[in-house]
Amino acid sequence: MNMFKALGMDMCLELPSQKFFEPNEKFFECMKRFDKTIVDVGAGMGQVTKGLCERGHLCVGIDNNYREGQYGYILTMDAFDYPYKKDTIILVCRPNHSGWVEDLFEETNQTFIYVGLEHNLDIDLSSDIRSDMKLLASNVGDDGENMYLLRGCYEKH
Ligand SMILES: C[S@@+](CC[C@H](N)C(=O)[O-])C[C@H]1O[C@@H](n2cnc3c(N)ncnc32)[C@H](O)[C@@H]1O
Repeated sequence: MNMFKALGMDMCLELPSQKFFEPNEKFFECMKRFDKTIVDVGAGMGQVTKGLCERGHLCVGIDNNYREGQYGYILTMDAFDYPYKKDTIILVCRPNHSGWVEDLFEETNQTFIYVGLEHNLDIDLSSDIRSDMKLLASNVGDDGENMYLLRGCYEKH
């Protein structure tokens, strides 16, 4: 029996090792303006969480699936079950496109950062959300991902 089923986590998959968003220094530079607790939602292997923690951020990663070789910073839990606090910052990087990002945005009130490929924006986010979002930085990852603020404030540097 897989270890998650043994723990009663029937919905958890064990996925192969794979990183989607590979952040560059521009990403970390841009994140310096966010000095509150960051939750890297859909963290996958946890490379972004790890990078942020190593740079002094208070960051936790969550993912509802386990990936082989995942860094030890990641909690196995669903994005909709996390007890977000008022000033928690939600960070979503290169999500899969099943609709959960928009649902999470609608269900929460936190500052919300989306990092992804431009051509995936209209798959992940409705035109209403896109019309209010702000481009924070372009080319913040190896595949040319952009970083957008969907809701909230940030400290200017
Ligand atoms: C395409 S992967 C990106 C992973 C990582 N952010 C990266 O860039 O490598 C999307 C991740 O979102 C996770 N995910 C999907 N729905 C989720 C949910 N409801 N709660 C938490 N994680 C979720 C998946 O398990 C998957 O690991």
